[in-house]
Amino acid sequence: MGYAIPVPEVVYMRNARFMASVAAASFLLSAVALADVDPKIGRLWKAQCAACHGQTGKGDTDKGKQMKVNDMSTAAFQAKKDDDFKKALADGVKWEGGDMPAFKDLTPDQVTGLVTLIRSFKK
Ligand code: HEC
Repeated sequence: MGYAIPVPEVVYMRNARFMASVAAASFLLSAVALADVDPKIGRLWKAQCAACHGQTGKGDTDKGKQMKVNDMSTAAFQAKKDDDFKKALADGVKWEGGDMPAFKDLTPDQVTGLVTLIRSFKK
């Protein structure tokens, strides 16, 4: 039983690979945390979306009822694609009961977070 003394290059490579996997893992973790309960996204929803769509996406506010927005918790609504949701945010929605404005200042992270939040309204 002896042990080899690692040459510096080998140690460096190992560390690089280890650091890369740590970075990947923490990236995944942050994506999951955002998906679940990023409070900033919740606040964004409350401030910008809930007046029409309701706190839980059911559209059960005065304005939501008046505009006849769809209940986001239904299977029919949830059958829509993420890209449909993103398009609504980027371009707004023309609607007989009153249009949804475009939200052009949202960052890609905010858009992703809002889509994930809307998915969480599923029954
Ligand atoms: C002035 C009211 C109003 C506000 C504020 C509003 N919406 Fe809407 N939204 C609507 C209306 C009206 C529709 C079209 C009817 C429907 O699908 O419920 C709609 C539709 C949608 C849809 C469905 C798009 C599709 O493909 O059918 C999504 C997703 C959506 N809104 C997300 C949001 C988010 C996220 C916010 C906040 C950043 C927001 N809305 C703010 C009124 C609003």
